[in-house]
Amino acid sequence: MAMKTGNATVEKLTAEVLQAYGGTEDPRLRELLTALIRHLHAFAVETGLTTSEWMAGLEFLTAVGQKCDPERQEFILLSDVLGLSSLVETINAADGATEPTVLGPFYRPGAPRRKMGEHIGRPEDGTPTLIRGRVSDTSGSPIDGATLDVWQGSGNGLYDIQDPAQPNFNLRGVFTTGSDGAYSFRTSRPVSYPVPIDGPVGNIFRASGRHNWRAAHVHAILSAPGYQPVTTHIFDSENEHLTSDAVFGVRDSLIRQFNPAGPGDPSDVQYVVDVDFTLAPAG
Ligand code: BEZ
Ligand code: FE
Repeated sequence: MAMKTGNATVEKLTAEVLQAYGGTEDPRLRELLTALIRHLHAFAVETGLTTSEWMAGLEFLTAVGQKCDPERQEFILLSDVLGLSSLVETINAADGATEPTVLGPFYRPGAPRRKMGEHIGRPEDGTPTLIRGRVSDTSGSPIDGATLDVWQGSGNGLYDIQDPAQPNFNLRGVFTTGSDGAYSFRTSRPVSYPVPIDGPVGNIFRASGRHNWRAAHVHAILSAPGYQPVTTHIFDSENEHLTSDAVFGVRDSLIRQFNPAGPGDPSDVQYVVDVDFTLAPAG
């Protein structure tokens, strides 16, 4: 495909569009709009985008919008599978804090507050596992009153909101640390599960030959007054999808060993995972 780089009409057109939006009053909106125009035009020029490809792209985005409803956000899924969600989390990460990763579509605010050590699910959700650690600031001091909002899917690969057989708020819980910053909760060892491919985003997986499995993980949002919240995951070091996660969410620093429970550990769990979290002061 012949590229139109250096074509005077193309350059004049891009300059004209940029100038038309150069008067946007809000400076941040002006920066975002003009950068978007520059990159969109460069994309069309670099690829020699044909009229039918341009139309196919618009039809694809239309189908993505039409798939959205209050339970299904196909645009976020599109952002996830293109790695944009993961990238945005990373460029907004606080120095010295636990690395963030994607929120995903299955977070529900309002999970029950639970006592330290409590099981967030049921025995039938999977292999009983204790996750424990400490929430500290970037200088290593424990944070009193830090909140962990945790959630995950069951052993059948489904979250409570996808599975009518699970009780409301199954495998979800909110824990608050005391002055030692320590926390612990019981859950099931997470399993891999597929991201939905029954919508237009599924065509990206089919066309590219990528699989749609997420590496097994537990979700957590850490927050505390005076600190920047962190949305993150705990990944299982033995999972087979760590290097090919469907939404590019894996960070080496978030991978943990699920160690067989030893003599000093509670007898009702099969695995123990140690995970410390670090929060940076609010800007
Ligand atoms: C999840 O972790 O639950 C998830 C994240 C992105 C897309 C689909 C699912
Ligand atoms: Fe998830």
